[in-house]
Amino acid sequence: MEKAVSLILDGKSLSERIRGKIEEEIEFWASKGFRRPTLSVLLVGDDPASQVYVGNKERACKKVGIRSLVYRLPRNTTTEELLDLIAQLNAEEEVDGILVQLPLPPHINQQEVILAINPKKDVDGFHPENMGRLVARMEDGFVPCTPLGIDLLLRHHSIELKGKDVVIVGAGFIVGRPLSLLMLWREATVSVCHIYTRDIAEYTIRADILISATGVPGLIKAHMVKEGAVVVDVGISRVGDQIRGDVDFEGVKEKAFAITPVPGGVGPMTVTALLLNTLKAYRRRFGLSVENLL
Ligand code: GUN
Repeated sequence: MEKAVSLILDGKSLSERIRGKIEEEIEFWASKGFRRPTLSVLLVGDDPASQVYVGNKERACKKVGIRSLVYRLPRNTTTEELLDLIAQLNAEEEVDGILVQLPLPPHINQQEVILAINPKKDVDGFHPENMGRLVARMEDGFVPCTPLGIDLLLRHHSIELKGKDVVIVGAGFIVGRPLSLLMLWREATVSVCHIYTRDIAEYTIRADILISATGVPGLIKAHMVKEGAVVVDVGISRVGDQIRGDVDFEGVKEKAFAITPVPGGVGPMTVTALLLNTLKAYRRRFGLSVENLL
């Protein structure tokens, strides 16, 4: 008997649906005379990938009716200059969210910059107060965008996490570490592999849900994946003129029950999660309930 075709976890179409709902809500508030939600985005330097990501965020905001103010700052901007701008935006009544695109140039103190953002405007969820809320399972914090986007995608497809073996490859600050906390929140058994893990395959082969966030194209091969697993690919690498994920899609899709494509999987969900976090920040500023955000 032929194996059924694996389920493609389409982040693009789910994003379109969620963004449609966000747009409706913003139009509703606008029709009642409320101002529009506003997101400030700070981009330092000219990293090509960051420029693409910021451009995507800007377009996505515009489409749903969020005002985005993008500050494109020169590479030689100092930590102090960045802190001054953040202080201004923290104080600005009309700014709901502040996002500093990472990575920052190496001469800038990233920790100081993240600590300077008002946690109530920290739509990236990187401030220790929001990371702490994630540990404490407090619903009113901000969950970092990629973990939140993955969670929305899995939930939409009714993929059970409770009691399941979730294996995360990559322990970075933006994805792997906060994602491990969110998966624990969802009551999964979580393993996190990183560059010092001796044999990654020993872990990945056990995963009911395998999530790779390393930026190493083609790292995850079919022999490392359990039959019937759910595979989530966070990697986005440029190889020649192609965009490649961490997962060898063609090989792995034969074994997986469900798999995210690259592009069109996690990428759009990350941007959608940012829009949701911005709407959450906006609702909180007006004392509106942050329940039923999705
Ligand atoms: N760089 C890569 N991903 C992200 C993200 O989610 N937020 C920010 N601020 N920078 C990033």
